[in-house]
Parts: sequence; structure tokens; C-alpha cells
Amino acid sequence: MTNLARLHELGLFDARAPRYTSYPPANHFSKDVTGTEVAEWQAALPAGARVSLYLHIPFCRRLCWFCACRTQGTATDRPIIPYLSYLYEELRLIAQTLPEDVVISHIHLGGGTPTLLSPEMFAEMGKALAAFRPVAGDLQFSVEIDPTEVDAPRIAALRKIGLNRASIGVQDFDPVVQEAIGRIQSYETTRDVVEILRGHGVGSVNMDLLYGLPHQNVARIRDSVEKLLSLTPDRVALYGYAHVPWVSKRQTLIPEETLPGPEERYELFETARQLFLREGYLEVGIDHYAREGDSMAVAARAGTLRRNFQGYTVDDSLALVGVGASAISRYPQGYAQNNPSSSLYATAVEAGRLAILRGHAFSDEDRLRAQMIEDLMCRFTLDLSRLAATHDVDVARLRVMVAPVLATYGDSVRLADDRLEIVESPRLLARLVAQELDTYHSPAGHHSRAL
Ligand SMILES: C[S@@+](CC[C@H](N)C(=O)[O-])C[C@H]1O[C@@H](n2cnc3c(N)ncnc32)[C@H](O)[C@@H]1O
Ligand code: SF4
Repeated sequence: MTNLARLHELGLFDARAPRYTSYPPANHFSKDVTGTEVAEWQAALPAGARVSLYLHIPFCRRLCWFCACRTQGTATDRPIIPYLSYLYEELRLIAQTLPEDVVISHIHLGGGTPTLLSPEMFAEMGKALAAFRPVAGDLQFSVEIDPTEVDAPRIAALRKIGLNRASIGVQDFDPVVQEAIGRIQSYETTRDVVEILRGHGVGSVNMDLLYGLPHQNVARIRDSVEKLLSLTPDRVALYGYAHVPWVSKRQTLIPEETLPGPEERYELFETARQLFLREGYLEVGIDHYAREGDSMAVAARAGTLRRNFQGYTVDDSLALVGVGASAISRYPQGYAQNNPSSSLYATAVEAGRLAILRGHAFSDEDRLRAQMIEDLMCRFTLDLSRLAATHDVDVARLRVMVAPVLATYGDSVRLADDRLEIVESPRLLARLVAQELDTYHSPAGHHSRAL
């Protein structure tokens, strides 16, 4: 049987599945988790713990039609100025409960488009961060960049406050595709931003590319990948375009009939993938490619890759503190999400309360399944003996838990010596296999395509 026929047989081309950037996925969070509980989780972090910070900036100067992120378009700084003051107020609130001696190991500025802030605003942000907690000597500080909304002074200001990594949104370089997704961005603009970043000593550059976009075909994606490779990114994220107009109304501007079908998506993915492999990039997880020597490549080889709300990461910190409207945090006890409404977020913070809307407190069963799903998404392997030891369960019970995986994915997986491995197309099947271990999964869930 050809690979394509086999993938059809396994249902990959019809399947929808969570991306498992958390377990349970955020759509299963409930209102049971309150700000009071989250403050207790913060206070309970052990002395000296390494903590990551995620700062969410939900604003953009342009609103690209393909984008599924919740973000507000604004031509002026009017809504941004008060938002930033709430962000720093939230940091002050958290600083009151977080143990004094935790160390910040990662800072990620995400959005939206964080680079729409001015150099002065970044300088203010630096002061708020410095007043929060000390940073680790090996701090990794990254930012998401829209190349049409950044310049040298802003990069310089970010560099001054510690920036050492950047992630640039490319999506596709083809003009027909760009027009169809409402995002015009020339190769030259992207190239100039890479040069500015490297000129300022930002040592690691990631680029996001999408497959499955309207009017994309093999020739176009090949051309886009070659252009992208000419900019020598350290890492590339190759995501499948998620067409979810029920979540993102803007996507209704993209007619369904212009989208490649499931098999074409597979061909687009494979075309891009082969080009990255030919260029010597290492495949990392289901959708990343990293140059040898890059910390993500090193983590993938060492088996220490992790997965969090931003996707794959080398971040090994004990807690991820999300700050800003809609930001999600992870503590050893569970997840907590801030209110996505900027005004309700502001009201809570102004009143001196954490703006928690919902979350999920882990049961022992959640922790075990979360670890298994992370292992599958990062390593395509489950070491049942190790899991049994670290989660204090019988191997026999784990064998029962993985029985549905074996029943459904038969020849695509192998269980030997209490090690379960996805042996066939692991990158394409990992989300589906993970779903077999997801007790929250409901077939009616409106997820994006599994491929
Ligand atoms: C939060 S966006 C920020 C990017 C930045 N504002 C920019 O314009 O480049 C981060 C990434 O999410 C990905 N993304 C957004 N919408 C998506 C969708 N519908 N399907 C798949 N990936 C998507 C894109 O690759 C994008 O670069
Ligand atoms: S892709 Fe970036 S600039 Fe475009 S709408 Fe999404 S977050 Fe904003």
C-alpha cells in the first residue's frame, strides 16, 4: 500500500484533532479555577524555581485574513497605552504572591504584534520586568515579529531590555497567495528585518511558514521555501493553515474553494519538508525544523524537547506565568487563563485582582496523560516503565491505557519491551495517536485539520 493510501485508511485526511499545546486542551478549561486558587499556586512555587513569563500584546496594525489569533486592529496607540499599564499592574500583583527568590528563565512577547510598541514603550517594559524578579544568566527572551511592523530603533530598544531570539511571521512569499490571505509582505522587507536582527546581535531567528493556504501549489510553496532558506533561519515552524471561520470571522474572506484539499495539503507539507531536510535541517516534533547546533535541535536529539502554549520549546521551567488579556499560565497544580476581554481584564486588575476567567486543576490522572501526550508530541514514544516509575502507577495499567492506540493504529505503532513507538509517519499521526489517550476528547469538538 502506498503511504498516501495508508494515511487515507487511518483517516488522517478527514480527521480533526487538538494541537495539544496543553492537556487538557484549553477548550476544556472550566470556571472552577479562581484567582484566589491561582494566587495559592503562585505562592507555593519552591524557592529558587525557574519561571517563564509570557506577555501578551493583543494588538495589530493590520488584520490578516488568515489569522486565527484573537487580536484587535488599531491605527493609533490609544488603546495600547492603558493596556500596557494594566499589564505592569498585573505583574506587580503577581510579584506580591510569587516567592521572592524565583528566577525568570524565559520571557516571550507574543500577540498579536508586540513589535508595534514604540522604543519608549519597550524601555518602560524593561523597567517593569526589572522590578518583577531577577532574570537567569541564561535568559532566553523572544518576540513575535510582523516584518511590516518593526524597524531598527524598535529592535535596538528590545535588545537593550534583553531580547536574544526572534520569531518572524512569513506564511508565504507568493504574491497571489499573499493577496488571498490579506497579508502583503515582500521578500525584501522580510530580508531587511533579518539583517537588522542579526546586525543587533539577535542570535536566533525563527520563521513561520504555512501550508494549505489559498491558491498554494507545489511550485509556489517550493519557491517560498527556497526564498525562506536564502535567509538562513535557525528554526522554521511549518504549520498547517487552520481554516476555522467559526473562531475567526475574518477567515470568511477566504473562499473555501480556493483552499487546497487534504491530499494537496499533504503534498505541500511533504514538498516543504523535503526541502528543509535537503538543506540539513533537523526535524523537530511535528512541525519544526532546526539547524544543527540550534538549542531546539540539541534538545530534540537529547530527548528533552518540551511542548507548551507557544508550541515546541526548550523551556524546562517549573511554571509559565501568562500576563495580559487571554494569557494562559501553567503551574504545577494546573492551568489558568486570564479573561480574553481587554475591558474585563482591565477591570479586574484595576480592582487589584488577578483576571482569571477559567482554568483546570490537574488530577493525578491528568498529569499522567499530559506527560504521555507530551512524550508522543515531542518524541513519538512512550516509555511505559519510566512513566510507571515517575507517576507511581503499574506498568500493567499503562498497557491497558495504550491498548486503544494499538487497536486503532496497529502497524503504525509498535509496542516492545514496554516502549510504544509511532513507527509510521510519526509526524502526521502524533496528534491522532495522542487523541486516543485524551479522555476529554469529544468527536464533536471543532478542531482544525489533523494535517
Ligand atoms: C500570533 S501570530 C503573530 C505573528 C505576527 N503578528 C506576524 O504577523 O507575523 C503567530 C503565528 O501564528 C500562525 N497562525 C496564525 N493564524 C493561523 C492559522 N489560521 N493557521 C495556522 N497558523 C496560524 C502564523 O504562522 C503566525 O506567524
Ligand atoms: S498574522 Fe500577525 S499581524 Fe496578521 S492579524 Fe495575525 S497577529 Fe496580526
